[in-house]
Amino acid sequence: MAGSVHEGPEFGVGDFVLLNDITLDAFMNNLKLRYDKNKIYSFIGEVVVSVNPYKTMDIYNQSYVDQYRGREIYERPPHIFALADSAYKTMKRKSRDTCIVISGESGSGKTEASKIIMRYIAAVTNVGGRKEVERVKEVLIKSNIILEAFGNAKTNRNDNSSRFGKYMDINFDFKGDPIGGHINNYLLEKSRVVHQQHGERNFHAFYQLLSGATDPKLAEMKLARSTDKYHFVCQGGDSKCSTINDQSDYRNVMNAMKTMGFAFKHAETLWKVVAAVILLGNIEYEAQDDVHDLAMVKDRKLMSDIAGLIDVTNDDLAKALTHRVIAAGGNVVDKGLTVSEAYYARDAFAKAIYDRMFTWIVKRINEAIDPKTAGVEFVGKNTVIGVLDIYGFEIFDNNSFEQFCINYCNEKLQQLFIELVLKQEQEEYMREGIAWQHVDYFNNKVICDLVEQPHKGILAILDEACLSVGKVTDEMFLTAMSQKLSKNDRYTCRSLNPSDKTLEHKRDFRIKHYAGDVTYSVNSFIDKNKDTLFQDFKRLLYNSNDELIKMMWPEGKVSITETTRRPQTAGTSFKNSIISLVDRLATKEPHYVRCIKPNEIKSPCQFDDTRCKHQVMYLGLLENVRVRRAGFAFRAQYERFLARYKMITKYTWPNFHGSAYDGVKAIISHMRFDDDVEYGKSKIFIRSPQTLFALEEERDKFIPGIILFLQKNWRGGNARRKAKKMRAIYFIMSRFRRYKMRSYIKQIVEKFRNVRKMRDYGKSIKWPTPPKVLSGWVGELQKAHNRWRANMILQKVPQDERPALQLKCSAHSMLRGQRSEWGMRRKWEGNYLATTKDNASTIDFVTKMTSLKSHDGFNKVLFSSYCKKVNKHNQCADRAIVITDRGIYKLDPKKKYKPMRSIIPLQQVTGLTVSPDVDQLIVFKLTDGNDLVICLNSPSHEERVGEVVGIMARIWETVIHSQLQFTVSKQPTCNLGNKSRQLAIKSTAANGGPVFKKDGQVLALFWPSAT
Ligand SMILES: Nc1ncnc2c1ncn2[C@@H]1O[C@H](COP(=O)(O)OP(=O)(O)O)[C@@H](O)[C@H]1O
Ligand SMILES: [Mg+2]
Repeated sequence: MAGSVHEGPEFGVGDFVLLNDITLDAFMNNLKLRYDKNKIYSFIGEVVVSVNPYKTMDIYNQSYVDQYRGREIYERPPHIFALADSAYKTMKRKSRDTCIVISGESGSGKTEASKIIMRYIAAVTNVGGRKEVERVKEVLIKSNIILEAFGNAKTNRNDNSSRFGKYMDINFDFKGDPIGGHINNYLLEKSRVVHQQHGERNFHAFYQLLSGATDPKLAEMKLARSTDKYHFVCQGGDSKCSTINDQSDYRNVMNAMKTMGFAFKHAETLWKVVAAVILLGNIEYEAQDDVHDLAMVKDRKLMSDIAGLIDVTNDDLAKALTHRVIAAGGNVVDKGLTVSEAYYARDAFAKAIYDRMFTWIVKRINEAIDPKTAGVEFVGKNTVIGVLDIYGFEIFDNNSFEQFCINYCNEKLQQLFIELVLKQEQEEYMREGIAWQHVDYFNNKVICDLVEQPHKGILAILDEACLSVGKVTDEMFLTAMSQKLSKNDRYTCRSLNPSDKTLEHKRDFRIKHYAGDVTYSVNSFIDKNKDTLFQDFKRLLYNSNDELIKMMWPEGKVSITETTRRPQTAGTSFKNSIISLVDRLATKEPHYVRCIKPNEIKSPCQFDDTRCKHQVMYLGLLENVRVRRAGFAFRAQYERFLARYKMITKYTWPNFHGSAYDGVKAIISHMRFDDDVEYGKSKIFIRSPQTLFALEEERDKFIPGIILFLQKNWRGGNARRKAKKMRAIYFIMSRFRRYKMRSYIKQIVEKFRNVRKMRDYGKSIKWPTPPKVLSGWVGELQKAHNRWRANMILQKVPQDERPALQLKCSAHSMLRGQRSEWGMRRKWEGNYLATTKDNASTIDFVTKMTSLKSHDGFNKVLFSSYCKKVNKHNQCADRAIVITDRGIYKLDPKKKYKPMRSIIPLQQVTGLTVSPDVDQLIVFKLTDGNDLVICLNSPSHEERVGEVVGIMARIWETVIHSQLQFTVSKQPTCNLGNKSRQLAIKSTAANGGPVFKKDGQVLALFWPSAT
């Protein structure tokens, strides 16, 4: 369970829940064993226990990130990545805000843990690589560098101890990418600015400036490169620290400020304030005179240097450092400070100015990471992961107001842990009626009450002391506590327990914290709680010429005579901020990292048993294991459980008709998990995470199918909708077309109603313009009408005239109007030489043709006529031409129509050329290079060229089945004796017939024009 299976038995158990016996010794042995084997992380269920390794561990690289990304917490060996991923997954899957509470004492590794978590989140998000998101991540990580420079310090327990509490919300968009964040800071330990214990340092920023700034820069800041010279940075002794490189840190801070968009001017001011504070520490006073002990600044030059840094006048600064202006009864009185008062004022000033600067830095960082101003769009839901890294429990030799606040804060967080992890869990089992053996744990609520209760609590008593008129000392506050808290067994002091010599009279009180007893010294509790800064300083800084400093101190604007409300005391305002923090955490799904510090000497190999045992005890880890072990890893309302896992069985999918309880039971028994669950009143409880894991796995198997099913349905529905629409469109279109057609036809019917009776059968009727869709169809209709009309006309033509009409049609379409006269109106007789009108000796002709018919095998004489013929020698002769359905004959009429040569088969004819005029020239183009060039010559001088054209066209149409090459030309050409010859038609006198003659280069047909 919980990762142990991945590690092997030599590493003990990864999850303390798996210990055989749950005793403190067994717990400690396991923890030590794992620590010795470099296993710094362990689980208690989903709580991560982390032991500070004090050495660099190579367990945070990309391959580790890949191992933990998207995994369930119990799938991999214990690691803080598993917790970070769990928080991230919860946030993303359930859209719930989550938080990670990191607790443990100072130096136990909280801040490191928070940084590791942030880096993990940065590594697993923004897979799309969006630029804005990358920027947000960079800014979130860089903000740490600045915060640590100004808010962390070397303490005896931790070289890089956070001296402020930090709670950071990271905002995520609906895709789970970080889009910004917000930091809340709590109680900077500002007393450190003016005082450090031995072995400790002031905040890092001071040393960074002194060792990182260039020489000219230091000179500008009136500083020398030395820490020993300055009181505020040298009280702890040697300021060198082996684990810190102030010089490079200074550069990193400058770079980070640049990345975060800090104005250069503002960064300068921040360092000047640091410099001013350093110099303030060296301000010394002397009495003006012996009588009044009124303070006067010793070193005017030093003072004017400081004035220059914070950009105020010398006089104003001198005044503020040595005087107080008091408004009394409408009068403003100037009161000089005594030397000790002046020192007090100086320190208060230094602390306030640094504290205010830190607050401003946090505010500025928040502006830079604010999701609204970060330029990342808010879309849909967005959720946050909160990371709390707050000061751990502290016990020093001398514990003051700060430790009191810090320890109170830890009590509150422990209380939250108890509430969420121990108490609520057990209460829920009771509520749900689950059989349960109660686990005892120490509830620290009594300690929280001791501190925070109204009227009776320590903070209330302290406030009361601060508010009362007249001089109240810390001692009086201690007395008041002794009276009011005498019955509280968590509180003690010398007067309540006179025999305890460890408590100093009139100075100490002790609280029995959950983590141990802490003795506090009341010295300066009153002052620190009042946290007064004289108005004079506020006005001084408000009047600075430096815009940033002025901006930090807006309340300096208030005039001295205006009475202002007494500000909240430091204790109360801290208490309020912690209460609101706890409330805020309580609304989120919590994840815990419990940090343990293995030794006091920052050693990577020492496991201090006593110290560790102590921490394990006060952190309540053992109780945590007990509750966890007795408890259940997972619970869910029946309805929610059913909704999530109902796809697992077919009884429950897609809808279960019984009660949610029965549905859940069906799923559990289907998976055979009955032994690992309990049924509560409204919830199911699952004992081991594996069961949940198995359920999740099973569910994952079905999800793709469900997605496909949903997609299929959605696509199908979509397509059906579309198809329906299309069908409707086509229906409407066809109806519309039909309507258009019908109304058009109606129109036509109307127009053509009487065509049968019209002379032209409706040829003259103008067709109405059809609608576009009908244009093709109307063309057909018109053709049909034309055919009908032709039919009507042809009906009147007698049957025997029809072939001639057909020939005329052929001739007409061949000539296409290119010849003016083509004998259309004449009756075409064809075989003219068989008529006596043309031929006196028809018998000879007919006899000849009959014999040729049987010889050549043609069917019919289609045309015969006398003609003039010319040959290649330009000789002109009278001939007869006969066209049959097989070929053409040239006959000599003078020799009883003897053929001049054998038949010219139609296949040899390649074309026909005629002239556009009245002459009767015809050129039969032949394949053998000798064209047949004739001029028809009838006794009646009839036009017969048209008839020949018609006959030839018809033959080509019906016998040859192709289009005749036909030309009409005024200057036709021909081939004679394989030579191309130009023909010309010339007119001649009316007497005599037509004749061919050579005329220069051309072969001319002389045509009797008047005939
Ligand atoms: N996971 C870790 N790996 C390596 N060193 C660590 C780790 N956690 C803590 N440390 C060391 O311990 C020191 C103190 O840790 P830090 O997180 O500052 O403590 P805290 O914030 O609890 O006071 C760090 O400066 C670092 O040197
Ligand atoms: Mg810290």
